[in-house]
Amino acid sequence: MLVSAKEMLQKAKAGQYAVGQFNINNLEWTKAILQTAQECNSPVILGVSEGAAKYMSGYNTVVGMVVNMIKDLNITVPVALHLDHGSFDHCYKCIEAGFSSVMFDGSHYPIDENVAKTKQLVADANAKGISVEAEVGSIGGEEDGVVGTGDIADPQECKAIADLGIDFLAAGIGNIHGKYPANWAGLSFDTLDEIQKLTGDMPLVLHGGTGIPLEMIKKAISLGVAKINVNTECQLAFADATRKYIEAGKDLEGKGFDPRKLLAPGVEAIKASVKEKMEIFGSIGKA
Ligand code: 13P
Repeated sequence: MLVSAKEMLQKAKAGQYAVGQFNINNLEWTKAILQTAQECNSPVILGVSEGAAKYMSGYNTVVGMVVNMIKDLNITVPVALHLDHGSFDHCYKCIEAGFSSVMFDGSHYPIDENVAKTKQLVADANAKGISVEAEVGSIGGEEDGVVGTGDIADPQECKAIADLGIDFLAAGIGNIHGKYPANWAGLSFDTLDEIQKLTGDMPLVLHGGTGIPLEMIKKAISLGVAKINVNTECQLAFADATRKYIEAGKDLEGKGFDPRKLLAPGVEAIKASVKEKMEIFGSIGKA
């Protein structure tokens, strides 16, 4: 069964650790992440972008796959299925399809419109026990066609959105989707500190988890980050392991072309990446 991400993130914030949101792309990804969470006895959030959902056929397919995989694999740790960077309309589509959590990315609207839409969504989602993430400022870089300029969030705007009854808040603090450029200025901890002071117990979300140095992750968690999103890292790990398999000519040996063999090294690489992140985030044993 899926759970909302509210309770697991409140626990994480109080316990000073973070729960990973790992984005899924297909069955292999989903299985690798769920099995790793179970092995690590860690809560987990499966992130689905609109683009990834479309690739997998649609939201109903995603819900069917995840819910049934939890059953078939006897996954007992808390799992939330979360729409990542959703538009207003798609948040409703996901709620209808059976997601347990949604992110409304209203960061590109003027603040008044972001507030109005977030308020509406919170009322409708909370009535069904579905958690809501909102965003202020913008996450730099591009993810599945969603492009952010990387604006640092205004802490007062964060407070205004947090007060609407959302369950967790993503704030742009210099984080970027995808690989960080060599001249990256780093995270703005002063902004994060100010946001946490104004928003109190609200679990904060750090997007762009790929490539943030360990010390910065630890510091962000100490300043109230309770959810960290990771996507590119698993993609790179999968691609790298798959390339090695092919380059070693293993697909040409015996039945090495069988997709179950061909994709196996990539799956193992995703598992290793997820486990490493869970160790860094401190969520192991917290299910
Ligand atoms: P990365 O792809 O940089 O890990 O970011 C993931 C993310 O923030 C998903 O919303």
